Amino acid sequence: MSRLIVVSNRTPGKGPAAGGLAVALRKTLAERDGFWFGWSGRLVDRPDSEAVFEDIEGIKVGKIDLTRDDHHAYYAGFSNSILWPSFHLRLDLATIEGHWYEGYRRVNAQFAQALLPHIAPDDVIWVHDYHMIPLASELRHLGINNRIGFYLHIPFPTVDALYAIPHHNELMRDLSRYDLIGMQANRDVSAFTEFADHQSPSTLSGSPLKSVDFSRTEVAAFPIGSDPEAFARLAVSPAATKMVRRMERALGDQALVLGVDRLDYSKGLPQRVEAYEKLLANNASLRRQVHLLQVAPPSRDTIKEYQETSDTLDAMVGRLMGRFAEPDWQPVTYVKRAYGQPSLAGLYRLARVGLVTPLRDGMNLVAHEYVASQDPHDPGVLVLSRFAGAAEIFEDALLVNPFDTDETAEALRLALNMPIEERRHRWERLMAGAHDHSVDRWAESYLSRLAPTGQNGQPAP
Ligand code: G6P
Repeated sequence: MSRLIVVSNRTPGKGPAAGGLAVALRKTLAERDGFWFGWSGRLVDRPDSEAVFEDIEGIKVGKIDLTRDDHHAYYAGFSNSILWPSFHLRLDLATIEGHWYEGYRRVNAQFAQALLPHIAPDDVIWVHDYHMIPLASELRHLGINNRIGFYLHIPFPTVDALYAIPHHNELMRDLSRYDLIGMQANRDVSAFTEFADHQSPSTLSGSPLKSVDFSRTEVAAFPIGSDPEAFARLAVSPAATKMVRRMERALGDQALVLGVDRLDYSKGLPQRVEAYEKLLANNASLRRQVHLLQVAPPSRDTIKEYQETSDTLDAMVGRLMGRFAEPDWQPVTYVKRAYGQPSLAGLYRLARVGLVTPLRDGMNLVAHEYVASQDPHDPGVLVLSRFAGAAEIFEDALLVNPFDTDETAEALRLALNMPIEERRHRWERLMAGAHDHSVDRWAESYLSRLAPTGQNGQPAP
């Protein structure tokens, strides 16, 4: 079996996203004697050209340092102020500074240079997410003909949004240097296909560009998932139970509605608070009977749009409290802090409603983890945005348009009143979906497509 190299901006042990992926890929990397490659988390004046390898949580990890300026242009700049908002169809929140592109490319070239000495002829390389779109081009440029796959964890944009991205045609050409592009959902593959089939010279880029040839690149949906068995176990572990007891004491008879999201404008948090406010306004009988816990660890907080989302939410939660709280009752608890998986699993299990209402989301693993953590005899209800990739998997959730806060408020009311038989029936189907789309199956199906024989495939052009 050929060796596997995984590349992503974050490495295991750094941040929750890499954490989930690390758990998923640890076994595969061990079986394939592979390693993970990414940014060290360090900013230095003069980065060493050589990567430093260490063992992190049982995974061999190679890391490189970046300069402060390059990192700013690559991460806060091009990746998170241009690509992230555009791919999430929030051009109003994008900051287009074309020069960030140079830093983005420089960092990708630096990754390729540092990775080069560690690539053997049969290795299969799996590159993750929007920070790394040019990596295959950079590696091909250095003479690497190995099978290289790309997986996009976030949604693929519409053609119009794509055209608003500086250098979008170069980026698409970069994508055509991969052998396999994996997307979260069918809607992303359709958006990509629309671009590939109907691409036209872009006037926005300043120069007419020739069409990109995608004939050697395979594109397909590989929806990512969680480890449902592990989450089900975790939800009844002593650490989870401790959190459940604590929360039960605080809640008394109130039903818990739970949201867990990075503090990101794509997650629809202001709309969620508004929907909850409407629920309380329209259903006086629910006051004192329900409690919203929103966990929202801060994210990318050097970026103005993230700070503004945080300020908006502070104000909205304050307004909600002022309107509905009483000396002895509070409608909402808002926590800007990250919790470990055991505590979250306990909270998921306790929550009567899992409220997952992003405006647009690649997949949304909170939805998967919420489902997996439920008590099969007394499961909660998932209220899920139609615009999360997870909506293609979880058709038995209460699907809502998160922009329509009346609809979300009504779904919340239905969820809180749902009879136990219906909750069980829906949950069984949701859980079957979580099993069918486990993260192990995801990795297996992607990798068997990338390297069908388990060997290096045909050399790429
Ligand atoms: C999303 C992206 C990941 C990213 C994560 C956390 O899930 O798809 O690539 O790592 O958010 O964001 P951060 O900017 O902290 O890495």
